[in-house]
Amino acid sequence: MDRAYFYAMMSGRGDLDYEAYLNTRQVLTAQKDFDALCNRDELQFQIVHQVEELWMKLVAYTLLDIDERIAARETNRALTLFARVHRTLRLMADQLGLLETMSPKEYQQIRLQLGNGSGQESPGFRTILKMHRPLWQSFDAAYVTGAGRTLDQIYDTGYGHDDAYMVAEAMTEFDELFQAFRTRHIQLIGRSIGIGAQSLKGRPVTLLAEGAARRFFPELWAVRERMTDAWGGAYGRVRDSLDPGARHPAPAGADIDADGGGN
Ligand code: HEM
Repeated sequence: MDRAYFYAMMSGRGDLDYEAYLNTRQVLTAQKDFDALCNRDELQFQIVHQVEELWMKLVAYTLLDIDERIAARETNRALTLFARVHRTLRLMADQLGLLETMSPKEYQQIRLQLGNGSGQESPGFRTILKMHRPLWQSFDAAYVTGAGRTLDQIYDTGYGHDDAYMVAEAMTEFDELFQAFRTRHIQLIGRSIGIGAQSLKGRPVTLLAEGAARRFFPELWAVRERMTDAWGGAYGRVRDSLDPGARHPAPAGADIDADGGGN
């Protein structure tokens, strides 16, 4: 096939209504020129990053809307918008896998193009990292403290699967999916440069695991722990086996398989 012909076609004419509305000329020329790419994987590398930035822009913009809906106690709207955030984050994690079709050797050529660039400079990522506390404050003011309630009431003693619970669970899912994106990114690093390597900033890649373990809304995770411990206190942490012939209680560690499995 004639590369030059198809290269020209891929950027489009730029003057049709569809192209004008979507700014396709700018979008499709926002990657390196074809003849400046260092290898055949670099276009994918740039596009995946650019698409992820666009998704993060959408997530951040939607979180601003969610914040306003929460403040106004418009629960249904907030939940629909949260569903958009959740789906976008799932896409984002899934799309990282595209880069696993790039060989580690060819990635090293691309790495030379990045200078000192790092994902930590990502505008979308940095924005989202700043949004969870204000979001929490809006939720607390509208559905928890401001409504004269506590999380323990919403989840346990006054549990009614109500609006406050639904919004809290949507926030928990957002938190969980963002962590899942960060964890998936660490797996991608394992495939491409190896997890024991140094980053372009000279930091050990293992530091990323600390970030991936950080939670946006620790309050929403802590309430489950408190409930489980309180219930455990009430019905006993070590219970009788369902098998009447079994020893009671099972010796410590007996529920852990030799390979570390267990329930
Ligand atoms: C082969 C592909 C990739 C490799 C080898 C890679 C590698 C790395 C490394 C080594 C870091 C740590 C940077 C530092 O310490 O300064 C990092 C951070 C980061 N990367 Fe990537 N990355 C890849 C793809 C992506 C993609 C597609 C995105 C999409 C947005 C992304 C987003 C980020 C973000 C947001 C951070 C900061 C994470 C944090 O601080 O927890 N990376 N990446």
